Amino acid sequence: MNQLSLLLLFILSISTILCFCSAQQKQSSRFQACSGTTYTSNSVYHTSLKTLIATLTSASAIDGALFNSTSIGPVNGQFLCRGDATTQQCNSCVSAAAPDLVDNLCPNQIGAITWYDYCIFRYTNESILGRMEESPGTELRGPARPRDLGVFNRTLDGLLDELIGNAVRNPSAFAARDARLGDFDRVYGMVQCTPDIRRSDCEKCLRDGVERIPDCCGGIGGVTIFRPSCIVRYEPELFFDPSRNGSAPASPPPPPPLSPPPPTTSNGNGTSSSGSSVNIAAVAIPTVIGAIFFIAVIVYLLMIRKRKKKAKMSNVDHEMGNGESLQFDLDMIKVATGDFSSANKLGEGGFGAVYKGVLVDGQEIAVKRLSVNSRQGSQEFKNEVVLLNKLQHRNLVRLLGFCLEKGEKLLIYEFVPNRSLDKYLFDTAKKVKLNWERRYKIIGGIARGLLYLHEDSRLRIIHRDLKAGNILLDGDMNAKISDFGMAKLVVVDQTQGNTSRIAGTFGYMAPEYALHGLFSVKSDVFSFGVLLLEIISGQKITNFDRSGPSRDLLSHAWEHWREGTSLDLVDSSLMENYSSNEVIRCIHIGLLCVQESADDRPTMSTVVLMLTSFSLTLPAPSAPAFSTQT
Ligand SMILES: *[C@@H]1O[C@H](CO)[C@@H](O)[C@H](O)[C@H]1NC(C)=O
Ligand SMILES: *[C@@H]1O[C@H](CO)[C@@H](O)[C@H](O)[C@H]1NC(C)=O
Ligand SMILES: *[C@@H]1O[C@H](CO)[C@@H](O)[C@H](O)[C@H]1NC(C)=O
Ligand SMILES: *[C@@H]1O[C@H](CO)[C@@H](O)[C@H](O)[C@H]1NC(C)=O
Ligand SMILES: *[C@@H]1O[C@H](CO)[C@@H](O)[C@H](O)[C@H]1NC(C)=O
Repeated sequence: MNQLSLLLLFILSISTILCFCSAQQKQSSRFQACSGTTYTSNSVYHTSLKTLIATLTSASAIDGALFNSTSIGPVNGQFLCRGDATTQQCNSCVSAAAPDLVDNLCPNQIGAITWYDYCIFRYTNESILGRMEESPGTELRGPARPRDLGVFNRTLDGLLDELIGNAVRNPSAFAARDARLGDFDRVYGMVQCTPDIRRSDCEKCLRDGVERIPDCCGGIGGVTIFRPSCIVRYEPELFFDPSRNGSAPASPPPPPPLSPPPPTTSNGNGTSSSGSSVNIAAVAIPTVIGAIFFIAVIVYLLMIRKRKKKAKMSNVDHEMGNGESLQFDLDMIKVATGDFSSANKLGEGGFGAVYKGVLVDGQEIAVKRLSVNSRQGSQEFKNEVVLLNKLQHRNLVRLLGFCLEKGEKLLIYEFVPNRSLDKYLFDTAKKVKLNWERRYKIIGGIARGLLYLHEDSRLRIIHRDLKAGNILLDGDMNAKISDFGMAKLVVVDQTQGNTSRIAGTFGYMAPEYALHGLFSVKSDVFSFGVLLLEIISGQKITNFDRSGPSRDLLSHAWEHWREGTSLDLVDSSLMENYSSNEVIRCIHIGLLCVQESADDRPTMSTVVLMLTSFSLTLPAPSAPAFSTQT
């Protein structure tokens, strides 16, 4: 790099540092559900829905209200923001959730709901204002495992009970606070109802949700229970704004002054109060001076320790000898991504936003800005990046390096031009680009990439979150798996063989993973099977229909399989332009992958063999595991 470009870089980085950057927030659906019934384009329902979205989005902006419910023609909609959200947080959440729900999550659906971190957005043709709804819903579990289950159980019971009581009394139907667990830990809880329902309904919704905890989430430290009318959430870390719950978080009451009762003068009236303040000062001043001295000593000791540790770490760096070459400069990345400008934002993954960037030498990159708190040290992080960087396969997105600076944790990937598979597969206009030949090639590519992760690379990597959103397409529409190895990069207090924050996506999760947190190569095989059936049917696994238990994608595929009408599953946008042999074989393989018992599912090497060798006779599949939605 010559001096001129260095100077340019310097000027640019100064200007980016000076530019005001609003705090970025995680903005993506944590869960959604669709009614399964559809409206037709440009119908009255469609146009009313568009007006409704505009009305509600502006209501969240203009009124600064955290809740609104409106009807336009046949469509009823509402949003609810978290009780501690600012107007700005609420509005940006609703503005992101509403179009996302209508365009991406549940296209053309008569009813739909999405839960974001800061808001719920939903609409339906049934009336909703004032009605308590407990379905659809879900329970999401985090990775945390409390140290002492006995203490945790008792504390949580008390906390949730108190929160429910507070929420029912509070006009905004919201309550949040924390409780102490032993000497070091705390649990932070929040409950909220939509404020339009009766207090007794609010209480019922919350209590029914809490009652599910032992079955779904016993012994888990971070849980979110989503219902249309209420939310219960608790985490080991502070996740709400404690200054916006109505009062400050719990802290021990200030100690009473140790001074003896104020001396009463003979005249007894006016002087006593000043006498007592003199007394408090006499005790407090030495105490404060003592405390300051004590804190100074501790800070000094900590600083010495940190310096020693740092010296030790740089030694390790030196010995490793690599890692450094994969390290990118933060200022360089800021220049490349326009300081993480929203125009360069490619999307939002489970662990943070992804930005497109162009390096000074013209190389295009994708930058993942990790937003996950991780207790992992920077050296372990670097070591993992070095290992993942060694994985090279045409069906994997290449990890180029990382950046650890000023509290930022960034992963730098090769840039893949055609976005992710879900953007095509679930979009009525774009799916026509995916003819059968391309879909078949994509299926084969995913299978080979996954096989490489499971068996062929020196590291045995279980993906744990394989889904259409994690399959990127290059210029030739070749599939490239992304987000693998995240479990190693964002370890959060994880016990072996048990789930962590890398919780998969509902619908794609094998039953043993969703219910018991057990993952293995076979849980990836399950997700692959779901993905395969999605690619063939062009339908999302997360669509649901309340009217019949067998209307989810897996049971739908299974029923057609048994009746010998498998081709009915095929995406209608493919018309008749496909090889029925290939399609039927793929459906057969998909059904083998989603079998209830992990042992019955094939390994990826068998799957690749089945896909390539038509002479191989496949075993008959047994009934698939059913989706875990409530
Ligand atoms: C929703 O907002 C509109 C104005 O934006 C207001 O007139 C209406 O009362 C609000 N409805 C509710 C239920 O808060
Ligand atoms: C809502 O739509 C569903 C599916 O089309 C229909 O069965 C139901 O009767 C509708 N409800 C109302 C209140 O119109
Ligand atoms: C804590 O509660 C969970 C279910 O909520 C239960 O499985 C577990 O046994 C309880 N532990 C103790 C020590 O009571
Ligand atoms: C806010 O938290 C405090 C202490 O943590 C609690 O006393 C108070 O009830 C909470 N307020 C609400 C509205 O939940
Ligand atoms: C003290 O105050 C009371 C009324 O407040 C008054 O009756 C009394 O005379 C006062 N005593 C002296 C010593 O000023």
